[in-house]
Amino acid sequence: MLPLLLFLNFLLSASALNDNAFPENFKFGVATAAYQIEGGWDADGKGENTWDHYTHYFPDSIADKSNGDVACDSYHKYKEDIELLKELGVSVYRFSLSWSRILPQGTANYVNQAGVDYYLNLLKLLNESGIEPLVTLYHWDIPQPLQDLGGWSNPLMVNYFADYATVAFELFGDYVKMWATFNEPQSFCLMGYINNEYSHFAPGYDLEAEGSYLCSATILKAHAKAYHIYDEQFRDKQNGKVSIVLVVNWNEPATDSADDMKAQELGLQFGMGIYANPIYVGNWPQLMIDRVANRSKLEGYSKSRLPEFTEEEIKYIKGTSDFFCLNHYTTDLVSYAYEDDMIGVNSSYTLDKGITTSYNSSWKEAQVSTWNHMVPWGLRKMINWVDQNYGHPEIFITENGWADDGSSLDDPDRIEYTEGYLSSVLDAIYEDNVNVVGYTHWSLMDNFEWSFGYTSKFGMVSVDFKSENRTRTPKSSYYWYKCIIEARSLADDCAVPSESSGRSLATNVFAVIISVILAIYYL
Ligand SMILES: *[C@@H]1O[C@H](CO)[C@@H](O)[C@H](O)[C@H]1NC(C)=O
Ligand SMILES: *[C@@H]1O[C@H](CO)[C@@H](O)[C@H](O)[C@H]1NC(C)=O
Ligand SMILES: *[C@@H]1O[C@H](CO)[C@@H](O)[C@H](O)[C@H]1NC(C)=O
Ligand SMILES: *[C@@H]1O[C@H](CO)[C@@H](O)[C@H](O)[C@H]1NC(C)=O
Ligand SMILES: *[C@@H]1O[C@H](CO)[C@@H](O)[C@H](O)[C@H]1NC(C)=O
Repeated sequence: MLPLLLFLNFLLSASALNDNAFPENFKFGVATAAYQIEGGWDADGKGENTWDHYTHYFPDSIADKSNGDVACDSYHKYKEDIELLKELGVSVYRFSLSWSRILPQGTANYVNQAGVDYYLNLLKLLNESGIEPLVTLYHWDIPQPLQDLGGWSNPLMVNYFADYATVAFELFGDYVKMWATFNEPQSFCLMGYINNEYSHFAPGYDLEAEGSYLCSATILKAHAKAYHIYDEQFRDKQNGKVSIVLVVNWNEPATDSADDMKAQELGLQFGMGIYANPIYVGNWPQLMIDRVANRSKLEGYSKSRLPEFTEEEIKYIKGTSDFFCLNHYTTDLVSYAYEDDMIGVNSSYTLDKGITTSYNSSWKEAQVSTWNHMVPWGLRKMINWVDQNYGHPEIFITENGWADDGSSLDDPDRIEYTEGYLSSVLDAIYEDNVNVVGYTHWSLMDNFEWSFGYTSKFGMVSVDFKSENRTRTPKSSYYWYKCIIEARSLADDCAVPSESSGRSLATNVFAVIISVILAIYYL
């Protein structure tokens, strides 16, 4: 009997969900970003930003040649959004401020009162609804006048960002207790500086060798300056927390060879360490410093393409985060791209990183955004890696979500994905003792998905982009998530369709048959 029981236990545990309750203070929410949902691109004095500019001047860069001019029209429909949040039962709403709505020229000499009022109304209504805001200052929409001055490769951007952050803390800080300075510099400091058939991203430069690192260096200093301003001028009265949102796919070695283990370290350090190391440990990761220096030399540069921080800057940036905001979607299998293949080819961040990625064909792949694979255990490994490398920080999962083509309101794959990843969060909390404090699912509703336009949908609520009303309709996943939030556990009464639950139908049937046999045996 014992071997059979062990076998049964193995079968079930391989795919079973963690059925512990979410900790009492664990916060559930959903996330959005200004350019992706607001619309009102030139409403009431708003200035032009880089995504307005890019989509208007280079419409062919967007899959359906669309833009965020109207998007979900949340500039006019935020009350409907809040109704959806209340009905869903979330305690946190993560959204971002549009810099050009508040400071149309990017500079703080002129503040657009209509833009300020929009966010004050949103924040007041959230407060009355008992929903806590987690506010991102910058989710990729730099004011165009500042882009014209060089954007993030211009080190003087540190001061413009600091002025903007000061205005935001001053105007909104009474309502906001969780701030994030930047969303995923990994994305805009890289994709914005690669412009080829695979990458279309504002501002659309082709400057990957140096631009990407100059951007990263500016972002780290701008983040640190905003953090210090909050610390010195606002923390006493406002009592909030400041962080930065970082993202990386889990990098699983494709084989257990020493080379592929090295690829894992390269992938995680170039992907996550590039920002987290300066903030949590001090300076760029040593592996990056060595690698970019070596390669720059081979390429004929007189010094490294990676900008050097002074001792003073290293100290200034270190320790500037009160909690760790982690975006995580998927896992890559990584292999080392051998040194010999790399020497003498063009300079770039991608070649510096020196890895190639692939997928396990058994991983379910998302529609349209096919980079997104369903690998729940990758999140648990990711959370543990962050915990171990950055001093056991408080971790907030600020994005995690699944794409489809939006053709159906019934979205069992999104439910299966979210259930698996939330179970992985519980594993990290209960099995590994990691301090994960919240989760904001990407996204509340379908929205403008950057170069995918409106072809890729991440929402738990569908939006009819063909209707002037941008009519919102909740999907199955919305009702499932509402049930989970109420239950505060992945308890089985949230009625997930069987073909999409964590266990396969066959496993369930098998388990029932075995249970009946065992019951008869013991009777
Ligand atoms: C609403 O505002 C009050 C007063 O500032 C504050 O005490 C309370 O925590 C806020 N509620 C939420 C959910 O943010
Ligand atoms: C950099 O080059 C030196 C000398 O060739 C070598 O010993 C070292 O391993 C290299 N480091 C990296 C990270 O590539
Ligand atoms: C290097 O750059 C040149 C010019 O842009 C391009 O034609 C070539 O394909 C690149 N080589 C590699 C290996 O990326
Ligand atoms: C792919 O996934 C299957 C099933 O989990 C596993 O048996 C296999 O080892 C994986 N392959 C790789 C290369 O990770
Ligand atoms: C849009 O909303 C208005 C007001 O609720 C309604 O009268 C109108 O019929 C709607 N139009 C469409 C196309 O759904």
